[in-house]
Amino acid sequence: MLVLGATSGIAQATVRLLALQGWHFILAGRDMGALQKVAAEVLANAEKEGTSAQCCKPHEKEQTLCGTVSGIALFDADNPESGVALWNDLPEVPDAIFCAVGLLGDQIAARHDPVWAERVLRCNFTGLVPVLSLAADAFAARGTGLIVGISSVAGERGRGSNYVYGSAKAGFTAYLSGLRNRLFGSGVHVLTVKPGYVATAMTAGRRLPALLTASPEDVARDIVRAMQGRKDVVYSLGRWRWIMAAYRLLPEIFAKRLPF
Ligand SMILES: NC(=O)c1ccc[n+]([C@@H]2O[C@H](COP(=O)([O-])OP(=O)(O)OC[C@H]3O[C@@H](n4cnc5c(N)ncnc54)[C@H](OP(=O)(O)O)[C@@H]3O)[C@@H](O)[C@H]2O)c1
Repeated sequence: MLVLGATSGIAQATVRLLALQGWHFILAGRDMGALQKVAAEVLANAEKEGTSAQCCKPHEKEQTLCGTVSGIALFDADNPESGVALWNDLPEVPDAIFCAVGLLGDQIAARHDPVWAERVLRCNFTGLVPVLSLAADAFAARGTGLIVGISSVAGERGRGSNYVYGSAKAGFTAYLSGLRNRLFGSGVHVLTVKPGYVATAMTAGRRLPALLTASPEDVARDIVRAMQGRKDVVYSLGRWRWIMAAYRLLPEIFAKRLPF
């Protein structure tokens, strides 16, 4: 599995879980030092859990340690060509691609500064498209593959507080759903992940409502379950599905008066 944004809190928790199921990873991101630390941590965790739980791929007769990281690689969504270079340098087409890249950034700056606004759009949407499109074509040609993209509930309706980030996520959600429709019947599974609030570096220092806030481990469990169930879309926490269904129905005349 190629993991884009492998230093993300949600990605790390998901990789730790998947490592116990025998997945192998190439971890990609923009900071090679940080990726090396994540790789070492994944291996140490898999070794510890693997020796006690003896978990490995179901089809393997001999139980061995699982969860290897076969490489780390540079990927900077701010420079979309880096995604093309990354894909072309892979030793082989991976089983899956998992995209956890995201930039909330300074949403006040993004309202007024076109450079910031473009950066937020690139890092959450347009900078991800080239590498995901290459993956989609390669998976379709092979007749199997998995594409997991982390979008956000923020992409379901523009909000005054973060609409540049939200509109990038809306674009990413639409891209993933279009990909899923195009690839239907091809053997390729496309999963869109829509977290609500998650306690990670992205939200550090913010006061988040406890009942609506997931841990990265909660989101990771939801992702792995959705992968196994070949779901199209998963909300995390699950209650966000109902909250967003109600919020989408709220007429604009009321929505524009909400204080967020
Ligand atoms: N936390 C939440 O409340 C929340 C809610 C809804 C959706 N999400 C989404 O969940 C995903 C994972 O986020 P997280 O919560 O785990 O936060 P996080 O720990 O801050 O992870 C964000 C990731 O995006 C990477 N990234 C940012 N700009 C990049 C760029 N130009 N090129 C490559 N990588 C870049 C970061 O890399 P560095 O380590 O190099 O900065 C980091 O790996 C994101 O798509 C985010 O939008 C999060």
